[in-house]
Amino acid sequence: MKVLLKSGMLNYLDQGTGPAVLLIHAFPLNHTMWEPQLSVLTPRFRVIAPDIRGFGESQPPSAWTMEEMADDLNELLGKLDVTDCAVAGISMGGYIALQFWSKYSTRVRKLVLADTRARADNETEIKARNEMIAAIEHGTIVLSDRMLPRLLQPNASHDVAGTVRAMIAGVDASAAAHAVVAMRDRPDFSSALHRIKCPALVVTGENDAIIRPDDSRGIADAIPGAQFVQITDSGHLSNLENPAAFNRALLDFLLL
Ligand code: MLT
Repeated sequence: MKVLLKSGMLNYLDQGTGPAVLLIHAFPLNHTMWEPQLSVLTPRFRVIAPDIRGFGESQPPSAWTMEEMADDLNELLGKLDVTDCAVAGISMGGYIALQFWSKYSTRVRKLVLADTRARADNETEIKARNEMIAAIEHGTIVLSDRMLPRLLQPNASHDVAGTVRAMIAGVDASAAAHAVVAMRDRPDFSSALHRIKCPALVVTGENDAIIRPDDSRGIADAIPGAQFVQITDSGHLSNLENPAAFNRALLDFLLL
């Protein structure tokens, strides 16, 4: 489905009935990465899964900040008559989810932070982002070359690797560069975590090569009452690599 926001045309999935759940995808993917969650969520929940600006079928691929992305999602929920919802973000989606909670906390009934960080990038990570931005100017092949081995664990199934590779192959170069800039410049929410009052679930893949499980555990420790679930047999994209375990954790939490 498509909706015209102030920032452009946003493509999103809106499926199922029940309390709303907003699913925010990782970089450099799109909303279809949530496919393995739909069959368990949609019988009980209204799932809203947007393509972040410039990804999937959202257009145009213009520059954004985390705060502007939170504004986009707020506008989307307004247009869909959703007052509040559970917000679940994976990786880049988690950065956006935290920013959304920070600005629109009354809209957030529950928060799921999967394979993500609360802190800002450190010097080394900023340098790597800048190298990535420069490399993307020569084509998006760098995304599959550099990212695919880090997104998935080495023994990821052929099917999952193929799905992720296909999503990356369709990425628009300028959308990717804008997202890397937004991630590089994102605020640090580490010291705000103790203020999260809604129920929270922190998820990590046990073999995540991008976010160390200790970083995820630190987020869970800092949020009062947060649950922490480590997904076995999974790398960074835990919802795709071990959907059975991810779905169990997500559903148990959402049904609480
Ligand atoms: C993601 O999976 O969304 C990104 O790898 C996150 C990041 O680069 O920080």
